[in-house]
Amino acid sequence: MNHFHYHQGQLNAEDLPLEQIAAAVGTPFYCYSTATLQRHFIAFQEAMTGLRATICFAVKANGNIAVIRTLAELGAGADVVSEGELRCALAAGVPAGRIVFSGVGKARPEIELAINSGILQINAESEPELDLLSQVAVQLGKKIAIGIRVNPDVDAATHAKITTGRKENKFGIEWTHAHRILQHANRLPGLDVAAVAVHIGSQLTDLAPFREAFLRVRDLVVMLRADGIAIRRIDLGGGLGIPYDPQMAPPPSPAAYGALVRQILGDLECDLICEPGRLLVGNAGMLISRVLYIKEGATRSFVICDAAMNDLVRPAMYDAHHEIIPVRQPESGVAMGVMDVVGPVCESGDTFARQRTLPPLASGDLLAFASAGAYGATMSSTYNARRLVPEVLVKGTAFAVVRRRPSYDEMLSLETFPEWMK
Ligand code: LLP
Repeated sequence: MNHFHYHQGQLNAEDLPLEQIAAAVGTPFYCYSTATLQRHFIAFQEAMTGLRATICFAVKANGNIAVIRTLAELGAGADVVSEGELRCALAAGVPAGRIVFSGVGKARPEIELAINSGILQINAESEPELDLLSQVAVQLGKKIAIGIRVNPDVDAATHAKITTGRKENKFGIEWTHAHRILQHANRLPGLDVAAVAVHIGSQLTDLAPFREAFLRVRDLVVMLRADGIAIRRIDLGGGLGIPYDPQMAPPPSPAAYGALVRQILGDLECDLICEPGRLLVGNAGMLISRVLYIKEGATRSFVICDAAMNDLVRPAMYDAHHEIIPVRQPESGVAMGVMDVVGPVCESGDTFARQRTLPPLASGDLLAFASAGAYGATMSSTYNARRLVPEVLVKGTAFAVVRRRPSYDEMLSLETFPEWMK
C-alpha cells in the first residue's frame, strides 16, 4: 500500500498533484511520500513486536537525509556500508547507538570514524578485517562491539547480481570456518564479539531461504554459547521483497517474516538487528519524467522520456520491472498501445520497459515510474553529463525539495586542467 493515487484525474502524492510539483521543480525528479515511509516502517515494527529488535534502515536503498530522518523519528536506526552513509545517518539525526556498519571492504579511516562515533556494532566479514578492527580499536583506546557476518551458503532465489549468501559470493565468513574465526576474534584485544550477522540477498519473494539461513545462525549461536562465547545479538540483514509487478504473486508480508523470526530465533533471548531497505522505501517513491517524443520505429513505437538509465538504472542493470503510470489518468475504455519506454542516453540499454501496454501518450505528458524509492536516486549517476535529479518529499499537501538539482557550473567545478594545459 502506498499514498500515490489518482484524484480528480490526476496522480497525487498524498494530497498533492504530481503535476504541480513537476511545474515547480522541473523533470525528471524523485518524489517520496512521508505517509508511505511511516506506514511501511510501522508495519515492519509491528511485525517484530516482542522481539527486542532494532530496525536499522539500510541507507544504501535511499540515502536522502530527510528520508532517513523521517524513519529515525519513528525510532529507526541505520545500517551503513561506507563513511559517506555513516555521515548521512549521523547528519539525519540517527543516534550512533542505533547504527550498524556492514560491508565487505571497510577502509581504515572508515573504521576509525565508526569507532570514534560510538556506533552500536561493526559487522566484520573476514579475518584480516577482524585484525584491523582490533588494531584500530586498541590504538583508539576503545572496545568495539562486533558482529561476525557469516555466509550460510543459501540460495536466496533472487537476481544473481543481488544474491549474497552463496559460498561463491564475496560476502561473509565461510559458514564452516565461522566457529574457528569467532573463537579467534574473541581473543583479539579491543573487540567485544557480540553478534552473529547474516544477509543472504535482496528482493526475496519466498521465506524458505530466510528459514534456512536463520536455522544455520541458530545452530551457530547455540554452539558458540556452549563454548563460552556469549553471543547476545543476531543481525538478520534485510532482503524482504516488495511487489513491483501487479501481475506477479506478492512477496510474503512483514508479519509472515516476523512470525518466522519468532519461530526460529525467538527463544534464544537475543537482541535482534534488522536491516530492511527496499521494504521501507521502495514503494514510497516514484520517478517522475516528461515525455519528449513519441517515435514510430521500423518495428515498434518508442516513448522517449527525459529520465534515463543514469537516473534509474534498475531496468538496465537487473532487467527490473517498474510500473509506468501516466500522471494524467487515462479515460476509461481508451485504446491501449504497446510501446518501448526509453530515455535519451546513447545506448540501447537505456530502456525502462519493452513492449509495455500503455494508454495513448503525447509529447509533454508526465509519466511516473513506480517503486523507485529504493535503489533509485542512490544508484544514479551523471552519465552523459546529465545532472543528478532532485528529490522531493511530500507530506499531506506540502512538499519540499530535499535534494536540489545541481547547476552545470557546480558539476564542472569539480574538474580542472592539468598544469601543462594552462
Ligand atoms: N543489509 C545488507 C548487509 C545489505 O547488503 C543489504 C542490501 C541490505 C541490508 C538491504 O537489503 P534490502 O532490504 O533492501 O533488500 N541495488 C539492488 C539491491 C542491492 C542490495 C544490496 N544489499 C537493486 O536495485 O535491486
